[in-house]
Amino acid sequence: MVIYLCGQLGAGKTTLARGVLRGLGYAGRVKSPTFALVELYKLSRLYLYHFDFYRFDDPHELRDAGLREYFNPDSVCLVEWPEKAAGLPAADMRILMQVAGTGRRVEIFTETEAGRSCLDRLKH
Ligand SMILES: Nc1ncnc2c1ncn2[C@@H]1O[C@H](COP(=O)(O)OP(=O)(O)OP(=O)(O)O)[C@@H](O)[C@H]1O
Ligand SMILES: [Mg+2]
Repeated sequence: MVIYLCGQLGAGKTTLARGVLRGLGYAGRVKSPTFALVELYKLSRLYLYHFDFYRFDDPHELRDAGLREYFNPDSVCLVEWPEKAAGLPAADMRILMQVAGTGRRVEIFTETEAGRSCLDRLKH
């Protein structure tokens, strides 16, 4: 599962990723991956990888840093600043965030069958 988190600086992408991890039962510290590029979480059988490509100057850094292998059938990847990386796998879900007063406006787009069935299960 590949989830793009889109929105300007401060839109709330990391905060949402933190909420997802809390929801999955992770009680530890959730750091922003801005400097490390990726933070790894192993949650029971699930591998969750949280990326932030804001600091990429060259879109090919994804390939050069060997990060593409994290995108595999056993992982859920949350990606901040996907637009800065070239050759990323397509998103199953794209979450657009915008500042709205003291809160945030969020739109969720599903782009694959896996993304749609995941969102459908959330609605029920
Ligand atoms: N839903 C929300 N409601 C109110 N404040 C929020 C919400 N989400 C995030 N914030 C606040 O906005 C600020 C920026 O949030 P966050 O670091 O998650 O943004 P970001 O999109 O990851 O930014 P960056 O692009 O720099 O990584 C933080 O102070 C956070 O507490
Ligand atoms: Mg962030």
